[in-house]
Amino acid sequence: MLKLAWMFVAVAALAQAPEFQPVGTMSQLMVNIIYPASDAIFYVDRNPPSTGVEWNALANQALMLAESGNLLLMPVRARDKANWIKDSKMMIDAGAAAYKAALAKDLEGIHAVNDALYASCVTCHAQYREGYGKPKR
Ligand code: HEC
Repeated sequence: MLKLAWMFVAVAALAQAPEFQPVGTMSQLMVNIIYPASDAIFYVDRNPPSTGVEWNALANQALMLAESGNLLLMPVRARDKANWIKDSKMMIDAGAAAYKAALAKDLEGIHAVNDALYASCVTCHAQYREGYGKPKR
């Protein structure tokens, strides 16, 4: 009987969705992770990578950017199941393309990502960031 009870406990534990534990606010994710990682791509020409170490550093930023799109998709963070998902995926795709280009040491490939990456930020902000695009008072 006791054995059966433990089996129920085990099955219940398996059925539970993994529990995410968000640490940063949306603003902190943007300012501390997404903004600097995307700047590394937007402004790559300020300091174009030449050594393997520099290309690695850029690849790290691109990977961080792509994966932080997944952080935006966490159920506690996603604002809805429509455009929020689309906009986050746009950022993931752009980050992933930049990652691939950085691994291939392909500067043109990094440049090529620029517009799509910028579009992902601006599209989501226009839809979800309060006061975005309004003149500052
Ligand atoms: C899926 C939606 C989404 C995407 C994609 C997104 N953002 Fe944001 N961003 C937000 C939201 C929502 C806020 C407002 C956060 C708040 O104030 O609570 C924000 C705020 C910001 C802020 C201001 C934060 C502050 O508190 O001052 C910066 C900077 C920022 N985003 C940078 C970026 C950059 C750069 C990109 C693209 C590489 C990007 N974001 C992509 C949703 C998004």
